[in-house]
Amino acid sequence: MDIRTVITSPFGDQRPGTSGLRKKVSVFQQPHYLENFIQATFDALSDYAGGTLVLGGDGRYYNPAAIQIILKMAAANGVGRVLIGQDGILSTPAASCVIRKHQAFGGIILSASHNPGGPEGDFGVKYNTANGGPAPEKVTEAIYRRSTELTQYRIAVAPDIPLDRRAHHRLSGMAVEVIDPVADYAQLMEALFDFNRIHALFNSGLFHMRFDAMHAVTGPYARAILEERLGALPGTVMRGTPLEDFGGGHPDPNLTYADELVTIMNRSSAPDFGAASDGDGDRNMILGSHFFVTPSDSLAVLTANATLIPGYADGLAGVARSMPTSAAVDRVAGAMGIPCFETPTGWKFFGNLMDAGKVTLCGEESFGTGSNHVREKDGLWAVLFWLNLLAVRRESVEEIVRQHWAVYGRNFYSRHDYEAVNAAAAHDLMAALRTRLPSLPGETFGAYTVATADDFSYTDPVDHSVSGGQGLRILFQDGARIVFRLSGTGTEGATLRLYVERYVRERSAHQQDTQVAVAELLTIAERIAGIRRRTGRDAPTVIT
Ligand code: G1P
Ligand code: ZN
Repeated sequence: MDIRTVITSPFGDQRPGTSGLRKKVSVFQQPHYLENFIQATFDALSDYAGGTLVLGGDGRYYNPAAIQIILKMAAANGVGRVLIGQDGILSTPAASCVIRKHQAFGGIILSASHNPGGPEGDFGVKYNTANGGPAPEKVTEAIYRRSTELTQYRIAVAPDIPLDRRAHHRLSGMAVEVIDPVADYAQLMEALFDFNRIHALFNSGLFHMRFDAMHAVTGPYARAILEERLGALPGTVMRGTPLEDFGGGHPDPNLTYADELVTIMNRSSAPDFGAASDGDGDRNMILGSHFFVTPSDSLAVLTANATLIPGYADGLAGVARSMPTSAAVDRVAGAMGIPCFETPTGWKFFGNLMDAGKVTLCGEESFGTGSNHVREKDGLWAVLFWLNLLAVRRESVEEIVRQHWAVYGRNFYSRHDYEAVNAAAAHDLMAALRTRLPSLPGETFGAYTVATADDFSYTDPVDHSVSGGQGLRILFQDGARIVFRLSGTGTEGATLRLYVERYVRERSAHQQDTQVAVAELLTIAERIAGIRRRTGRDAPTVIT
């Protein structure tokens, strides 16, 4: 085996964020940059020699080149076998599924999720552990530490492996299996959901759907599962071909970036159900005809209806949501008598809870929903869950959600993002607010009186690790809240996220527009934090 040892020096900026290492493509293209991070990853792991590694990505620009480098480095670092999706494609949830099913020691996922792609866009590398989930902080910190002291990396000298066909190859003694990226995942979905019933719903001719794959990774999965297996009409999947720059779009399934789908769903002859997924297939947006389901409400509705779905018919062990996610699911869990956990932002915090059997469903306000079937959030899974629900209940999306509010009350919820603001200004804003927190309890702002205010810190109930600095919370006496956080996934300046929430029990008030319902909280947030003055921004970039 011909292995080359290359002398290198550390880059200081390889600390993984909320979801892996994300940088501009041009940063990853610097000589040795990717190689250093991959070597740091292998160095931070132990006991993997001869084991199986899963590799794949969302098909974005730089994926093919990165994959060949990683394959050669895996061979040089003693990996026994690599399972790689055909054309280098694996959605994030499919990668999680393949890691678990084939008992891999881990996986490397190449994606910057919902961030734009192309030569000017973003690229990312994320390491997942044997449970199929994103590496916990102790692993990402070990990778980072190693990256700061690296002096060399190892890479095999070998020809590139062709990825356009399913086949078995050898690379300097390591086995490389190019696998169908959809098969294992589709089989898992079939085990959870009532495919016959969903098929019957599509066959009835009375039900129509559109799925926007945003020219990202879910296209092949959605076509295979929705159109080929479940009988949805051809053309149900729009923008279904993965493109390296996502067709110039921003592959984030929200009301701003999936506007074409939103327009279709608001037409007079709108389909009954609309959904979209992001760059790497782990996010989902759920729409009914003329109706948007917030991700927080979606989690609550899925929890309340879980026993109607074959895979969850025996009930749920518990649920979890990230701190900024609305508390709608808490009410359902309370009524069902199951535990509800509040974790920091990022899927990695759910893994321990799922591994310990404490939660079955979990979700985030950022269009992420999932269950213990894998250890990542899963866009298509959420879509199939809704389809199964619609097939059983035979009501519209809007009817299901309105009935839910009637029973549990409505949590009006909105997130305002200020993207790419000056990093120093954003940090100053947070620092000033943090200083102000202790004096807030007892203060009254209009109709709201502050009950508590803190910097959210989480103690993992399983391994007791503590994660601090997870967002500034202002909690009011009536349960309303305002949360400020800086994004851990952006690659330009800083992104300030402002989350507001208010619970309304009375059914007569459920019709209000969300932005109207939370307007006073937004004014209070501005008063307390001075966003305009400090960032120079009059309005957020994205409102969801
Ligand atoms: C964002 C979301 C978070 C999600 C993450 C990865 O992270 O807010 O919920 O887990 O992307 O998809 P943030 O940029 O806020 O750190
Ligand atoms: Zn994603």
